[in-house]
Amino acid sequence: MNLLAIGDVVSPAAVQHLSRRLSQVQDAYKIDFTVVNAENAGNANGLDPDEAQALLDAGADLLTGGNHTLRRRKLYPLLDSDPRLLRPANLSAHAPGVGYGIYRAGGDRVLVLNLIGRMFMDAADCPFDAADRVLAREQGRYDYAVVDFHAEATSEKIALARYLDGRVSAFFGTHTHVPTADEQILPGGTGYITDLGFTGVQDSVIGVRSEIIIDRFRTHLPARFEFAQGPVTAHGALFTLTPDGKCAAVQRVVF
Ligand SMILES: [Fe+2]
Repeated sequence: MNLLAIGDVVSPAAVQHLSRRLSQVQDAYKIDFTVVNAENAGNANGLDPDEAQALLDAGADLLTGGNHTLRRRKLYPLLDSDPRLLRPANLSAHAPGVGYGIYRAGGDRVLVLNLIGRMFMDAADCPFDAADRVLAREQGRYDYAVVDFHAEATSEKIALARYLDGRVSAFFGTHTHVPTADEQILPGGTGYITDLGFTGVQDSVIGVRSEIIIDRFRTHLPARFEFAQGPVTAHGALFTLTPDGKCAAVQRVVF
C-alpha cells in the first residue's frame, strides 16, 4: 500500500498547484491513498468549502486539519457531513466534525487519525490518551492506521510517534511548514517523519509575504497576513506499507 501524505496546503494558489500536478504524482508513484493537510488552504487561513472540494477533486482521499480548521464557520456543515474532512480528534467535545475515520483503499481499510499538539499551541486534550482511545475502540476494524500530528514542537511529535510505534503504520507531523530530514522506520515498524513541510510559495516566511512577518517580529505591531506570490512547491512523503501493517520505506516527495 502506497500512502502519500502532503504537507499543509497554504493558499488557493497551492490548491491550484495540486489540481494541476497531484494526479501525475499519484500515477508516477503508484499511490493507493492520499492524505492532504488542508487547514490553511482557504483565502486567509482556515479552509473554505470550495477549496476543500477542489482538493478532493484534485485527488485527495482525505483532508486533515489543525489549529485553523475551525476558524471558518461556513466549513462546519461540511465537517459535520463529509467524513473525508477531519479536524484534530483531541479538540473540545463541542467542536464540529470528527477526528478520525476508516476509509477504503482498494481492498484495505485505512484508519486515519488527526491529532493536535499541546506544546506552544492552544489548549487541547491529551493526544496520547486520545490515540489510545481511538485505537482501542476501533481494534480489528482497520488494516492500517495513519496519524497526522499537527504540532509545533519536534520533541512532542517524536514522543507521540515513539509512544505509538508498532501500533500505527505511518505517523507524520504537520503545522511548522518546514520539512524535516528525519524520515525513518521506528524500531516497532512505524514509518515516521517529524514534519512534511508545506505546499505553497517557498519564497516567503512559511507561506506569508516575508516583509510582513519581518515587520511583525521587529515592531510587535499587528499586521494583516498576505500570502506570498510566486512559484508553488508541494512537500510530502511516501510511505510504503506492508500487509502486516508495518512500513517498509519512507521517502520525501517534492513537486
Ligand atoms: Fe497549523
